[in-house]
Amino acid sequence: MNCTSMVLYTTLNSTYVNIMPSDHTVKDHHTPTPPHASSVHEFGINSAPRVPVDDWEQIRACYQAGHPFVIEGATVQDQQLSIDDLRERIADEEVTCFNPEYLSDKMTMGTLLDRVEQGEKYRIRADVQLGKLFSQHFNTSFFERVRGVKITLMDMLLHFLAKKSWAVFLSTPGCKMSNHSHINSTFVVQLEGTKTWHLDFRYLNQLEHPTLYPYDYLAKKHPAQELVVHMKPGNILYVPAYWLHYTDTDTVSLSMHYLFTEKMSYYFSKRMCKLFFFEMIRRPIGMLKLALARDNEFAFGDKSLWSKRCTEKELTFLAENDYY
Ligand SMILES: [Fe+2]
Repeated sequence: MNCTSMVLYTTLNSTYVNIMPSDHTVKDHHTPTPPHASSVHEFGINSAPRVPVDDWEQIRACYQAGHPFVIEGATVQDQQLSIDDLRERIADEEVTCFNPEYLSDKMTMGTLLDRVEQGEKYRIRADVQLGKLFSQHFNTSFFERVRGVKITLMDMLLHFLAKKSWAVFLSTPGCKMSNHSHINSTFVVQLEGTKTWHLDFRYLNQLEHPTLYPYDYLAKKHPAQELVVHMKPGNILYVPAYWLHYTDTDTVSLSMHYLFTEKMSYYFSKRMCKLFFFEMIRRPIGMLKLALARDNEFAFGDKSLWSKRCTEKELTFLAENDYY
């Protein structure tokens, strides 16, 4: 924790001393609550609800409650998209991926899929170019109906210029993604394979590393307090803005992610406002990068880039928490 974070943590910590962990552990009232305690219990859930695609009342209620949930049995694309389709349609196109050494790499999609087939730990993370290519097959109006709005003010600021509302993720068994949260909310459409998601909500003062990345919050993994969601094809997961999340890949997995922002009332709410204003005030350049960059979370998992700008202590945190 750097000096600024330490001051911030010390200043804000007293606000949330009554937060209890979500595992219902009985605690002495005089025992200080650890700064990393989860605040998931404030949303009144112990697990992410799973709702059938035709139960719109429940879908809207879960969305408005602002916690993760899964829509089951959904088909939101007009044609099948699978790993075989990637090979058939864009085998010769160059893609950027992470290799087994956690370094950015470039190769054709065909070569990448050959390596994935051989069990090598390659992955594509948040590929906006592929997202754009396949987005025409996805029914955006489904998500607009869930949100109850077509576009928000923040969508116009963050997504309009760079047009990066869709991103493709491809990962291989054993890939463990790092824990992070951001201003964007996401609907994750699982297309092929299975993946396990871990989600947690923590306030700003409960995050160990709020400034390590220009526009994402990073924090340690605390498995005992997280919501765990198993995803399979036909499932759509809602990851609300500022909810921490990371994944474990069980099989070769392909997913399409729809990125969007919430209404301003969400960011001004009591739970989210400190996370929101910290970003706006402490790292406006990061917000600008997010708005203008062609990529989303550029080089987020690249070991060499982390190494260039982090201290030894920060690198130890990153290594222990699967950032590389
Ligand atoms: Fe994310």
